[in-house]
Amino acid sequence: MITWLLLVSLFCKSTQDGNRQNNGNEISTTAGVYPRNRVFKVGSRVTFRCVLSAGQIFDKMYLTGYNDPDMKTEMISNQTYALTVHLNKPSNSTCTDVKCHIQHVDTTKYGTCAHIGYPPGDVDLKCETRDLESVECRWTARDTHLARKLTTYQLVGRSCVDGSKGRCSQKVQVDVGERNWTLTVQNELGKVELSDRADLTKRVHMFAPEGVTASTVNARSVSLKWVWTVQQYNNINITCQINVSHDGTNTMSKYFGVGLNFAVLTDLIPNWLYNVTVRCGTTQNFWNWGDWSTSVNFHTRGDVPDALDVWMQRKDGQIIITWKMLLANQSHGDITDYVVTWANTTETEQQNRRKVAHNKHHLSLSLDTTKEYTVTVTASNKIGRSSPSTMIVPRFSPDTSRVKTSLITGSSGGFSLSWSASPVASCGYIVDWCPTSGHCSVEWLKVPPNETNASVFSKNLKDGVRYSLSIYACTQGAPVLLERREGYVRQERMQNRLFDPLEWKQQESNVEVSWIPIPQTSRTAFIQGYILYWSDNNDNNNNGNVSTDLGNPEATSLTARNLKISSYTFTVKAQTAVGECGDTSLILTLDSLTDDLIKTLLISLVTVFSLLSLITVICYRHWACIKQTVYPPVPKPLLTEWLTSPGEHSCHPLPVDQCYYSEADIMDIPELHCKSGAPVNGYVSHKNIPFVFAQTPNGYYNQPLKKFTPEPLILPTTTIPSQSSSFRCVFPNLSYSLIMQTLDQQSKSAPDPLEGTDIERNWNGYQPQSHTIFSLNQTNEDSESPMSCVSTYILFPQSPST
Ligand SMILES: *[C@@H]1O[C@H](CO)[C@@H](O)[C@H](O)[C@H]1NC(C)=O
Ligand SMILES: *[C@@H]1O[C@H](CO)[C@@H](O)[C@H](O)[C@H]1NC(C)=O
Ligand SMILES: *[C@@H]1O[C@H](CO)[C@@H](O)[C@H](O)[C@H]1NC(C)=O
Ligand SMILES: *[C@@H]1O[C@H](CO)[C@@H](O)[C@H](O)[C@H]1NC(C)=O
Ligand SMILES: *[C@@H]1O[C@H](CO)[C@@H](O)[C@H](O)[C@H]1NC(C)=O
Ligand SMILES: *[C@@H]1O[C@H](CO)[C@@H](O)[C@H](O)[C@H]1NC(C)=O
Ligand SMILES: *[C@@H]1O[C@H](CO)[C@@H](O)[C@H](O)[C@H]1NC(C)=O
Ligand SMILES: *[C@@H]1O[C@H](CO)[C@@H](O)[C@H](O)[C@H]1NC(C)=O
Ligand SMILES: *[C@@H]1O[C@H](CO)[C@@H](O)[C@H](O)[C@H]1NC(C)=O
Ligand SMILES: *[C@@H]1O[C@H](CO)[C@@H](O)[C@H](O)[C@H]1NC(C)=O
Ligand SMILES: *[C@@H]1O[C@H](CO)[C@@H](O)[C@H](O)[C@H]1NC(C)=O
Ligand SMILES: *[C@@H]1O[C@H](CO)[C@@H](O)[C@H](O)[C@H]1NC(C)=O
Repeated sequence: MITWLLLVSLFCKSTQDGNRQNNGNEISTTAGVYPRNRVFKVGSRVTFRCVLSAGQIFDKMYLTGYNDPDMKTEMISNQTYALTVHLNKPSNSTCTDVKCHIQHVDTTKYGTCAHIGYPPGDVDLKCETRDLESVECRWTARDTHLARKLTTYQLVGRSCVDGSKGRCSQKVQVDVGERNWTLTVQNELGKVELSDRADLTKRVHMFAPEGVTASTVNARSVSLKWVWTVQQYNNINITCQINVSHDGTNTMSKYFGVGLNFAVLTDLIPNWLYNVTVRCGTTQNFWNWGDWSTSVNFHTRGDVPDALDVWMQRKDGQIIITWKMLLANQSHGDITDYVVTWANTTETEQQNRRKVAHNKHHLSLSLDTTKEYTVTVTASNKIGRSSPSTMIVPRFSPDTSRVKTSLITGSSGGFSLSWSASPVASCGYIVDWCPTSGHCSVEWLKVPPNETNASVFSKNLKDGVRYSLSIYACTQGAPVLLERREGYVRQERMQNRLFDPLEWKQQESNVEVSWIPIPQTSRTAFIQGYILYWSDNNDNNNNGNVSTDLGNPEATSLTARNLKISSYTFTVKAQTAVGECGDTSLILTLDSLTDDLIKTLLISLVTVFSLLSLITVICYRHWACIKQTVYPPVPKPLLTEWLTSPGEHSCHPLPVDQCYYSEADIMDIPELHCKSGAPVNGYVSHKNIPFVFAQTPNGYYNQPLKKFTPEPLILPTTTIPSQSSSFRCVFPNLSYSLIMQTLDQQSKSAPDPLEGTDIERNWNGYQPQSHTIFSLNQTNEDSESPMSCVSTYILFPQSPST
């Protein structure tokens, strides 16, 4: 007040000074700048005067913060100068300096402070009560840019200390009923009056509850209490909001009551850290929420773990019981171990039980696949054991063909699938998934019974890997497989050289390119078909392609037809939704067809010629025999002489047996063939004794044959088949006597009847230690046989070691 009076008196004085000067005649004796300490409205035009003492020489006059163009200085008289300014800027702090300088005297200068600002412009008055004993109002204050003391604020007729901050509180009697709450703001430049009509009992803005504490802490519930510093709060119906936060999530719960000073929080996670804050408001005539209390931490007590989510997987004849690791908000303390029990569904009292370490979450069981088992898994922590999770392992049924399998492609990193509702799914559905081939640890999700779709997402899902998804119905008994899906989250192009190694086959002008079936693990996309491209390496315009029908992913060959004789590049590609891929190429030069013909022709000619030559030679050699056979001469009785003539180049006529050579003979697999001079089994057959034909009806004599002892062996081999003719010896209806004269079995040289094929077999398995003498005894003379021959093979091994 004193300041105010002082200011008013100063104002009056400066006005007087100014008036006097304005009159021009009266020269102020007091040097200085006028008017002094006046309040000016922004935008007004004002003239300041500087009065100098005698002898002083004027230098300059200015307002701080203003530029030269805004100011104009005039000399009014020898001692008086005038500065006219357009006051377009409000004072930054308390006031704006007006200064007057004198020449040559730095220290001596005159000045005054001008208060440049605005009239009051405060708006939006709102009043409420906090303690029900005072009114507290807020408004939007306008900055007048004048010194704080130059603007006055009055609420309900009493001045406010800090009015410029837009806030004022006055002790009042808070009664029910509306009244005007008036604020008056005033300064030299103007005055405003704001009023807010309100019933303060409906405008209660509560203070924060004090001393919030968790009085009783349980595993899943906590009691909170607090106190009110304002006595009146205990008499009104209060609604409190509690912000329960943990791990970045927060939930709000509401409580109410007269003078509410406690709350019980429920549904908390055991063994968990919480942070709570409380704020309240009036229940009736809610105005707004009070301030938040300081936050309070509490840690709930531990509890037994939650029940496990159990599923199973069938692998290599075993059942893998697997369960999901409990999260910290499910284990309620560190897990110490798991216990798996299983029993026949029929005999549940006879249980098997196994403990599983806390860091494992599956157990392989070798169960009888023809029976159903009830498997139960529990988890333990230091508080105790979880409630059991039970599942029934179904009998193994290898017939899954009745289950519909359809292809699926993923989207945005996962699979979205839906299926038809099943009436057996009383407790919902289970969807599990695994890579179709290779190592797999099953993942699954459970779906409530009223839903028939699911989104499968997992960080383990990979692009380009084929997954099998199965949808099971959850029933009171064992889960029932309903449907299957197979597909890729995202199909990927297959590597080049997918088809290596490519095989090929030329058939005339066609080339068939084939490959081994692409294994499932190499398929990173659905193969829809295959395409074979070919291009002539010498002619760019000669190319083409052929593809399998779409929907034939199992094809393993493609044929390029009507190719010219040239060098070609063949490329096989797999057709997929992500394009053709797996490119595998093959470069090959086709054989000329005419070349082939000539070659075939030449080979045939040479073969025929060779055969003819052979026949000729044989016939020449055996001419005598043939001749003898066809025109048998009168037999000579001199057998011993015949036998004692080794080295004869002839086939001796056999008096009874016949040996035919017939060109017209039907081609057959020959039984015997003698190849002269060639080393066989290490023995050399004497070329002069290709065959020995023995006459049998007159008896077979072992003795004379021994005369051949020094001669090399003759071993029979298979004759070369001939197209048109053959030379063969047929032994029709012969009985063969094999005399095996081993050193050990000299005495047991009784003849054994043998089949022709057995002879052949014995020859193949010939033992050098044996002296084997075959004698052929014709038991039944068959004159109708076109050709017959009796041969005696004399096999001499090297001297057996004794
Ligand atoms: C106030 O301050 C601003 C910058 O801070 C300046 O531009 C302006 O000139 C000042 N006004 C006065 C009157 O001093
Ligand atoms: C002031 O004016 C008077 C006459 O009016 C003159 O005599 C005097 O020299 C002037 N003084 C100055 C400083 O100019
Ligand atoms: C309250 O203020 C309003 C205007 O804001 C006025 O019309 C009314 O007469 C005032 N009532 C009282 C009781 O002062
Ligand atoms: C407080 O307010 C609530 C909500 O209106 C009401 O249900 C409750 O009965 C009130 N309590 C008392 C004590 O009036
Ligand atoms: C509850 O408290 C948390 C943590 O203090 C905070 O992040 C969240 O914003 C609060 N919720 C509300 C509605 O105030
Ligand atoms: C509760 O949470 C708030 C916000 O996250 C945090 O500022 C405060 O320190 C926490 N209280 C305690 C007691 O830790
Ligand atoms: C447990 O935490 C996981 C995330 O860590 C969250 O998805 C899940 O809803 C929480 N469960 C409960 C019962 O709070
Ligand atoms: C299951 O039942 C069979 C007979 O039905 C019995 O031999 C077998 O021991 C049972 N196994 C278990 C684990 O109870
Ligand atoms: C299925 O039932 C649950 C609980 O009853 C419900 O929350 C959910 O919205 C229902 N879903 C559908 C698709 O009806
Ligand atoms: C299931 O289908 C309904 C309706 O089509 C959809 O709103 C819901 O998001 C789907 N649920 C899942 C898990 O995909
Ligand atoms: C495959 O051959 C057909 C003609 O037989 C041609 O029209 C087509 O463009 C070829 N495709 C490609 C990819 O070259
Ligand atoms: C030949 O057969 C006859 C009659 O079967 C027999 O008496 C004779 O002993 C046989 N000769 C030889 C050497 O086996």
